[in-house]
Amino acid sequence: MTTETSATAWAGPLDGRVAVITGASSGIGEASAEHLASLGAKVAVLARRAERLDDLVARIAKNGGTAVAIAVDVTDAAAVQAAADRVEAELGGADLLFNNAGVMLPGPVEELRADQWQQQIDLNISGLMKVIGAFTPQLVRAAGERGVADLINTSSSAAQNLYPTFAVYAGTKAFVSHLSKHLRIELGPKNVRVSAIEPGIVGTELQDHVTDTGAREWLEGSKDTIDWLMPEDIAQTVGFIASMPLRVNLPQVFIMPTAQPS
Ligand SMILES: NC(=O)c1ccc[n+]([C@@H]2O[C@H](COP(=O)([O-])OP(=O)(O)OC[C@H]3O[C@@H](n4cnc5c(N)ncnc54)[C@H](OP(=O)(O)O)[C@@H]3O)[C@@H](O)[C@H]2O)c1
Repeated sequence: MTTETSATAWAGPLDGRVAVITGASSGIGEASAEHLASLGAKVAVLARRAERLDDLVARIAKNGGTAVAIAVDVTDAAAVQAAADRVEAELGGADLLFNNAGVMLPGPVEELRADQWQQQIDLNISGLMKVIGAFTPQLVRAAGERGVADLINTSSSAAQNLYPTFAVYAGTKAFVSHLSKHLRIELGPKNVRVSAIEPGIVGTELQDHVTDTGAREWLEGSKDTIDWLMPEDIAQTVGFIASMPLRVNLPQVFIMPTAQPS
């Protein structure tokens, strides 16, 4: 598949694009950074674990790509703005933002884990918004100058479906999905394509952070009947969304393991 941005017949579909990926030190973000780089985009990879980012950048460079590591906590607005300034200075500004960092901490509401509720809200909602705030000016400018930019937010099937004890996580992801729909009508006329990806279970480090025993058992047990998605499956989806002809916007991509019922 090619886009109008391809300069030559042999260029990758994302040749000339500059992608920023948050949550790039593991799982979906890491796989997406590698995939977008393989499609020709220069990538800026953001997360807190600097060493993991450095390894990723080295791997991308070894495969002929261009990547910049920016260690940042996306809940820190000043640090996120500094990251955006660096992307502007070093790569000329982003035209693809994969806003993906997130955390999932299910648990019965009656256990009153206000710390975990807040952690999810701080990252999945407030952190996501800080990244949108810092990079949207770059996306709008790129869209104005070159006719295309992508804002792709990672939501979850939990935004649509009901999972007992996942109420707060699901609520944060419902925010991401609904926000994305609204931003699309605001930014679409400016040629910024806005998408929300809503995956079912993907095997990543996300499950390792779960402390609730019941949720851990449910997740672990689901492996008996469900072949979980792999991070690469979502990476390919991100690449597909960004490689579509400029007139095409996929606002919402619901992607499930074949055997996961809901
Ligand atoms: N796995 C699934 O089943 C699934 C399903 C649906 C949706 N999702 C969503 O997919 C997204 C990616 O998750 P994943 O499954 O790939 O899990 P993951 O492997 O745990 O990745 C989460 C990423 O977020 C980063 N992160 C966490 N806190 C951060 C912070 N304060 N500042 C900057 N980066 C931070 C982590 O890096 P550092 O720790 O280095 O900062 C890591 O790179 C999340 O939004 C998640 O909700 C996942």
